[in-house]
Parts: sequence; C-alpha cells; structure tokens
Amino acid sequence: PGGFLEVITGPMFAGKTTELIKRIERQMFAKRKAALFKPSIDNRYSEDEVVAHNGLRYEAFVIPTNAEGVGKIVEITKREGYEVIGIDEVQFFPMAIVGALERLADEGVYVIASGLNLDFKADPFPVTRELLVRADNIVYLTAVCTVCGKPATRTQRLIDGKPAPRDSPVILVGGSESYEARCREHHFVP
Ligand code: ADP
Ligand code: TMP
Ligand code: MG
Repeated sequence: PGGFLEVITGPMFAGKTTELIKRIERQMFAKRKAALFKPSIDNRYSEDEVVAHNGLRYEAFVIPTNAEGVGKIVEITKREGYEVIGIDEVQFFPMAIVGALERLADEGVYVIASGLNLDFKADPFPVTRELLVRADNIVYLTAVCTVCGKPATRTQRLIDGKPAPRDSPVILVGGSESYEARCREHHFVP
C-alpha cells in the first residue's frame, strides 16, 4: 500500500549518497524496517558501507552487479520484510533492476534509487534514465562547478589532469582524483 519509487540523481559530488543515507535514516526514526544496498564494484571507501564524499557512512548489503545480484536485492527485501530500501550507484546494475524495483514498489515497498544522471561523455546512464521516467518522485541534485562555481549537472573525467577522450571505458570507479563536477559550459569531451 505504501509503495513508492523515488529516484535521486545528478552528477558526482551533488550529494546523492548523503541524501540517500538521510532519507533511509529518517525512515528508521519513523520505525520502518529499512536497508541500504550497494554494488560490489564500488569499493572506493569501504567494502560493506555506503560512504559519501564528505565521510558520511552507513552499513549496506553489498550486491554483485549481475542478474543474480538483482534477484538477491528482491530476495533479501522480501525475506527480511523491509518496508524501505535504498540502492546507491544504481547505474552500475543491469537493466533488470528497473523492473525488479518497480515490482517491489507495486508490492508496497518504498524504493529509493540513487544514481548518476550522465556518464563522463554526458550520455545518459540507461538504468537511471529508465528509472527516472517511472519514478513517483525525482530528487534532482546539482554539485558546484569546479571551474566557475555555478551549479554543475555534469561530471568531468580527468586523466593526468586532462579531459578523458570519448573512447575511454564508461565504467571507471573513482573520486576527486579522476572526476570533477562541471556545468554545461565547462564540461569537455575531446
Ligand atoms: P554523490 O553521491 O552525489 O557523489 P556525496 O553525498 O557522496 O555525493 O558527497 C557530497 C559532498 O561532496 C558534499 O557535501 C561536499 O562535501 C563534497 N564535494 C566535493 N566537491 C564538491 C563539488 N564540486 N560540489 C559540491 N560538493 C562537493
Ligand atoms: P558518486 O556519484 O557517488 O560520486 O559515484 C559515481 C561513481 O561512478 C564513481 O565511482 C565514478 C563512477 N563513474 C563511472 O564509472 N563512469 C562515469 O562516466 C562517471 C561520471 C562516474
Ligand atoms: Mg555517491
């Protein structure tokens, strides 16, 4: 009955993970049974916690980014009777997660999915895009452009301080050593 699909999106450093943890924590204060999930490929700061760029952290189930992983999220949610689930870095999961999360919401779960809007080329992440058009609510966050200080909607990948070329791989786990938040004007793809 209380099912709801909420999507938190924006570029890197926009505060998506911070907002996800905050929303999960609020639900726990409201005595709802809640849990966080994160993909296993994101081991930047911790193996078993969701960690934001500002150090905020929260315990999470670590899930492989394949079809079995998607099944695992559904299985754990149902087995433990979670009323609220948060998924961080949702863009790294296969497309099957879209239907899986929508079904959970249909069945009464409050689903909060957090993920990148665009990759370093400013191409949409397909999973995020598909979740956004199905969402009951969208939280669109911006970061601060590291060049001009205006709101940033994009993520610049830097390799040895230079903009990464279009043919570099889409997935490259990293933080401020490889990425900067940028506005449209200061985002470059050679
Ligand atoms: P996301 O998950 O969207 O990458 P986080 O919640 O992990 O974001 O981190 C947000 C934090 O990143 C901010 O609170 C701030 O401390 C830090 N930060 C670093 N660089 C920037 C930037 N360019 N714009 C905004 N916040 C930044
Ligand atoms: P964040 O949104 O919490 O900052 O984390 C985004 C993660 O996604 C980070 O590990 C870097 C990675 N990433 C890619 O793999 N490809 C990309 O094109 C971009 C922009 C980020
Ligand atoms: Mg994050």
